[in-house]
Amino acid sequence: MLADKRILLIIGGGIAAYKALELIRLLRGAGAAVSPVLTRAGAQFVTPLSVAALAGSPLHQDLFDLTAEAEMGHIQLSRAADLVVVTPCTADLMAKMAGGHADDLATTLLMATDKRVLIAPAMNVRMWEHPATQRNLARLRADGVLVTGPTHGDMACGEHGPGRMAEPADIFAAIGAALHDGPLKGRRILVTSGPTHEPIDPVRYIANRSSGAQGTALAAALRDLGAKVTFVTGPATVPPPPGVQVLHVETARQMLEAVEGALPADAAVFAAAVADWRVAQEATQKMKKDASGLPVLAFAENPDILATVSRHRLRPGLVVGFAAETENVIAHAQAKRLRKGCDWMVANDVSPATGIMGGTENAVHLITETGTENWPRLPKTEVAARLAARIAAHLTGQPE
Ligand code: C5P
Repeated sequence: MLADKRILLIIGGGIAAYKALELIRLLRGAGAAVSPVLTRAGAQFVTPLSVAALAGSPLHQDLFDLTAEAEMGHIQLSRAADLVVVTPCTADLMAKMAGGHADDLATTLLMATDKRVLIAPAMNVRMWEHPATQRNLARLRADGVLVTGPTHGDMACGEHGPGRMAEPADIFAAIGAALHDGPLKGRRILVTSGPTHEPIDPVRYIANRSSGAQGTALAAALRDLGAKVTFVTGPATVPPPPGVQVLHVETARQMLEAVEGALPADAAVFAAAVADWRVAQEATQKMKKDASGLPVLAFAENPDILATVSRHRLRPGLVVGFAAETENVIAHAQAKRLRKGCDWMVANDVSPATGIMGGTENAVHLITETGTENWPRLPKTEVAARLAARIAAHLTGQPE
């Protein structure tokens, strides 16, 4: 089931650390390779020998050991995994993760990884309910960290309530889900996102107000359904989601090149706000304010990436465009769907009064060959989840 998957397992310092041993057994039984890391506090609860013996792989404990020539560097160790799992994740570890600390091996690996992170929190009820922990939890979730548990129950400290670490079987199931075991497993999906920057000279550029929030949420939702996502993003303000292949670009022409390089794909979603025009002649030196008067910029048309891919010899089976409009939203988007040759168009009104561009909510219409659906105003993450489910249903032929 998890054959060939590599799990970097960080064991924090809590009484629930003993459950990590059972988790290692389950993971190895399912064919996964486990690379264990034991924090200094974790070593107070389980012995390095038992962890290494069960994992059947070297145990890592010290950041500075990894600088030794024969050892794997911490960057490499954090990248070689398919998933990073923290069990038990203590209140202190959560705080360090939320704050971006990197003062030991575990926290450094967590900062250096480009993979998804799943935590199984475990702590005393009061510590779990403390506003600081809840703040950190919200921060970590917003950063894309997956969380399993804690559950309610009797705790080793004698209290009762939430804070008990999830059982090894539940953490094991959460690991399976995080490793792309959804309906889109094995499918490749391309998502474009963010604005493009079109240079005027080496220091100036033309841009737009796209934050990349909707495209980022969509890439994450497709990933959560098991898709292998290639995320081509312009200079967005929202960071790209973990667990997808990220290709950073600046201009529309670079975006087209990256997109064509990422084909073939099963589906492609074009959520980027691509600049329609670029400055025809980018100045090689910074333009100066001088006596010769105001500069006049001549424009050239950018390639239309969506239209190009819709007519490409490697056209994905499903091509979805976005239409950001400020008037006659549905009519313009219906015409655009036909003009660009895509299958679906997700249309929205980006007039400043809607607060949609750069905001956290979106109100969209889904335009397909068979008609137009008006979706309610929803958080962008919810729009993304619904659209991802529709894409999955379309690709797999299974109802949502
Ligand atoms: O800007 P426009 O309204 O034409 O954008 C509609 C759709 O076309 C969006 O999905 C956008 O990502 C895509 N597009 C593109 N390349 C362009 C312009 C727009 O892929 N040059």
